[in-house]
Amino acid sequence: MSVDLLLGLQWGDEGKGKIVDVLTQSYDIIARFQGGPNAGHTLEFEGIKHVLHTIPSGIFHPKAINLIGNGVVIDPVIFKKELDNLAPYNIDFASKLLISKKAHFILPTHRLLDAASEAAKGKAKIGSTLKGIGPTYMDKTGRNGMRVGDIFTKTWKKRYQSLVEKHLKMLDFYDSALEFDINELEETFFEALEILKKCKVVDSENYLHQAQADGKKILAEGAQGSLLDIDFGTYPFVTSSTTTAAGACTGLGIAPNKIKEVFGIFKAYTTRVGSGPFPTELFDEVGKRIAKVGHEFGATTGRPRRCGWIDLVALKYAIKVNGVTQLMMMKGDVLSGIDKIKVCTHYKTEDGVIDYLPFDIQPESVSPQYIDAPGWEEDLTEIDQVDKLPKKFIKYIDFLEEELQTPIKIVSVGPDRKQTIFR
Ligand code: GDP
Ligand code: IMO
Ligand code: MG
Repeated sequence: MSVDLLLGLQWGDEGKGKIVDVLTQSYDIIARFQGGPNAGHTLEFEGIKHVLHTIPSGIFHPKAINLIGNGVVIDPVIFKKELDNLAPYNIDFASKLLISKKAHFILPTHRLLDAASEAAKGKAKIGSTLKGIGPTYMDKTGRNGMRVGDIFTKTWKKRYQSLVEKHLKMLDFYDSALEFDINELEETFFEALEILKKCKVVDSENYLHQAQADGKKILAEGAQGSLLDIDFGTYPFVTSSTTTAAGACTGLGIAPNKIKEVFGIFKAYTTRVGSGPFPTELFDEVGKRIAKVGHEFGATTGRPRRCGWIDLVALKYAIKVNGVTQLMMMKGDVLSGIDKIKVCTHYKTEDGVIDYLPFDIQPESVSPQYIDAPGWEEDLTEIDQVDKLPKKFIKYIDFLEEELQTPIKIVSVGPDRKQTIFR
């Protein structure tokens, strides 16, 4: 049985949580494959909004199994808070939530190192969510990390302590003004670990191989977005994991030839939170309007998101890197009432006008080239059928589809589950 994959094509926050929730009814297993609690995936239904950070977005469905894969990094403290927040919803975590033994832990000192590293960078900071993501993946690739399965071994505490001692020395090196009480941090960490220990911890790659053999339908859920990928994103202003399609193979143990559909999600415009280049960023009233109407504030940090026009150069690149087979366009409703919508089709560079993403997309190196698309006046949020959508909006979708050479199969017109139109 094949596996489908859903991932963001921009700089994150495209609406992955909402669409995974919508699609879960057609799947047996939802599996997160990378990232950690830097992610904030929002779901809305029955008038309630939920934000998930570590737990996959299929958790509200009665039957689906939700698996946290080996490629994910887990902060037990945040994980416990997520479970606490979900307590009123009577979710049977014991049977529905699985955690990979090979997933790595974010330790309290990883979070401190993240903060110290960002402070030391000054103006050049990444704009990290400060959840300890970078330092944790550094320890993973540096072969020093602590994995979920380790907590059931005798040497766990000793290895934990020697890693923490090393981290404390590194913190001295940074000479940051960070104030912390390691004992207090550890107390909270170990308390949360006891809760995590009660969850079902599995050899997740074996579990998924068996599920495939049994004909189960699996949806891999990405976090962040393709332009934040450690290799293909706007380095160094990226996250520390493989957010693109290949990450689902390494982050779950799924073979590339088992992946069938690759669902690529994008907003009808572009947003970015944190630092780094953003060619189509708007600094005018239109940008402010998009931010306001779209409630563009980070689901994890609450920081305002930078807003700009849609960038087809970047989208085409993300579609190629991921092998996207179907597109999903989110938040078209936010653009209602803007009479002239701009679409970036090319970049002007020293080497001429190009339609591919070059090595450097800093403002001094690329200048976005736009065409105008006529805007639509109508409110889209109550529309539930394709043929009721305004003509000018349909024209916008058709134009994007033609440019991107990939079908747009879902159009989302509001945050709620119900505000989803299938084409
Ligand atoms: P994720 O990280 O990709 O899951 O996305 P986030 O949850 O961080 O950000 C998406 C935001 O847009 C959330 O607040 C969603 O509730 C909201 N949202 C999702 N789809 C739509 C849509 O079609 N229209 C509007 N107006 N909001 C949406
Ligand atoms: P979801 O899954 C948007 C950004 C941060 C920062 C950079 C590095 O909700 O789409 P990190 O904490 O990973 O060291 O931060 O990546 N970032 C995100 N931006 N959505 C996310 O996740 C993000 N996760 C990280 O703002 O610029
Ligand atoms: Mg988000």
